[in-house]
Amino acid sequence: MNNFDFYAPARIVFGRGTQNQIGELLKPHATKVLLHYGGGSIKRTGLYDQVVASLNKAGLKFVELGGVVPNPRLSLVREGIKLARAEKIDHILAVGGGSTIDSSKAIAMGIPYAGDVWDMYDKGLAIEEAVPVSVILTIPAAGSESSGDTVISNEETQRKYGYGSPKLRPVISVMNPELFFTLPKEQIGYGVADMMSHIFERYFTHTKNADLTDGLCETTLRTIILNAPKVLANPSDYDAWAEVGFAGTVAHNGLLGMGRDQDWACHGMEHELSAIYDVAHGGGLAVLTPAWMTYVYKENVGMFAQFATRVMGVEGSLRDLESVALEGIRRLRLFYEQMELPQTLRDLGIDEENLELMAKRATGAAFDKESPIGGMKKLAWQDVLNIYNLCK
Ligand code: NZQ
Ligand code: ZN
Repeated sequence: MNNFDFYAPARIVFGRGTQNQIGELLKPHATKVLLHYGGGSIKRTGLYDQVVASLNKAGLKFVELGGVVPNPRLSLVREGIKLARAEKIDHILAVGGGSTIDSSKAIAMGIPYAGDVWDMYDKGLAIEEAVPVSVILTIPAAGSESSGDTVISNEETQRKYGYGSPKLRPVISVMNPELFFTLPKEQIGYGVADMMSHIFERYFTHTKNADLTDGLCETTLRTIILNAPKVLANPSDYDAWAEVGFAGTVAHNGLLGMGRDQDWACHGMEHELSAIYDVAHGGGLAVLTPAWMTYVYKENVGMFAQFATRVMGVEGSLRDLESVALEGIRRLRLFYEQMELPQTLRDLGIDEENLELMAKRATGAAFDKESPIGGMKKLAWQDVLNIYNLCK
């Protein structure tokens, strides 16, 4: 096990009706709130009215900014920063999914920064301060409710970059599984593929003697695989959503990766798809992950066989680890199919035109600073192109 430093301070308030506590929860932390949300689902479901009622009851002033889209845009972040400065906002409440939370975090670090907030994403500048962010989660997927990360798309340059700082971890995250009942089917699948990927990126490693986090990853994956088909079949299954929702948070709060070298190649490759084609992050991951596994499993066949037996329920001879490993990957594909997820780049509406460009961007080769991605196997741009080609 590697050395590590783990600090994950987000307070998670979980359960039925918890969104109605938001005013009281924020009161010790806020005087004027920016209420940030997406394209309107919170108005259709009635959540908006509940949040407004709770803020009013607690006597908290607020202004609002809606309009966040999936793959959240830099232009709205800049608008939010201007608004928040003018209104002297001291807390941001994100009501939505990863896109709204990430947009909120971007606004939060942009408010006290004198330059353009894209500098953080583009140049990786360290931040000294950020306005605190809290969350009411409406889709379990990105794990942004407990992470210090934000991912923003710059629509002018077609770049999608992530940025992370402990200062961006939400103060309070409210999770009521009842709020997930209204999710469209395809968003359920995307969310599941994303949270599973957050575990895979940490799980598949060459680090030895990490039994505890191996087991935590495997349990979290099994919990998702058991419960996700239940919510797809019955989106009002509270108990199954509770398991999937909590798993999504555990998948990305950092714990599962402690003491292990991590991978993150699939995320790097996916962000290129989203940047150019605006595909849903989880949809891109569902296509890329089995192909990546097929491309890299020989680097550590034992780990992939362990995944196959402990997570995918493969029973096979330990004398033939390779067949066991490959059967695990095949079953993962079947699971994604069962979750009605896209299987190929074609399903995502992506043709061959930009594959090489995306492979070169993912690895930095397009900018004359190639730096291979991934931990299980170091992937140069040609490897990334090979993986994209496996997804056609
Ligand atoms: O915008 P509205 O109208 O709210 O509709 C949203 C949106 O269209 C809808 N939705 C959300 N909750 C709903 C609902 N519809 C009905 N009922 C509800 N309860 O779902 C759509 C997707 O929302 P979005 O916020 O985009 O989903 P998700 O949580 O999957 O977030 C994806 C973003 O997170 C980033 C991704 O790259 C992507 O941009 N990620 C952020 C991470 C982080 N900050 O730690 C890590 C991840 O790896 C990921 O990269
Ligand atoms: Zn992700």
